[in-house]
Amino acid sequence: MSTAPDLAALRRRAIDAAQRAYAPYSSLKVGAALQSASGAVYTGCNVENAAYPIGGCAERAAIASAVQAEGAAFRLAAIAVAAFARDAEALPVSPCGACRQALVEFGPAAQVSFRQPDGSWVEVEADALLPWRFVLPER
Ligand code: THU
Repeated sequence: MSTAPDLAALRRRAIDAAQRAYAPYSSLKVGAALQSASGAVYTGCNVENAAYPIGGCAERAAIASAVQAEGAAFRLAAIAVAAFARDAEALPVSPCGACRQALVEFGPAAQVSFRQPDGSWVEVEADALLPWRFVLPER
């Protein structure tokens, strides 16, 4: 089943998810909220670690939550991402390269929106965020 994504609701959920980020090292609190093709919403936040490279991004945390709930059938319809400083100042954010690869895995046509400090949202199709993405060759 496919439900038209409720972008306004997703964006609110992304802002809310950012409040729960664990980001003591970068002080960048990132939240993501995605809508599955099933209509369900899943959220994630970044989770950092004293061993810096093992920290994880908000987008992939939300994807992990969706796959945990829906299994391999999960398809991404839309995702919203927002970021804030520790003092709650809104900061610009755009999905990192690894997250872009993860987004297109589950929904090349997904609607991706990310928040700007003035409160506006950039909206782009996942596919357009990562031209020439890696595709596992079939033989
Ligand atoms: N971060 C995300 O959560 N998503 C992105 O797409 C970019 C970066 C997080 C990772 C790290 O905890 C912090 O932002 C600074 O890089």
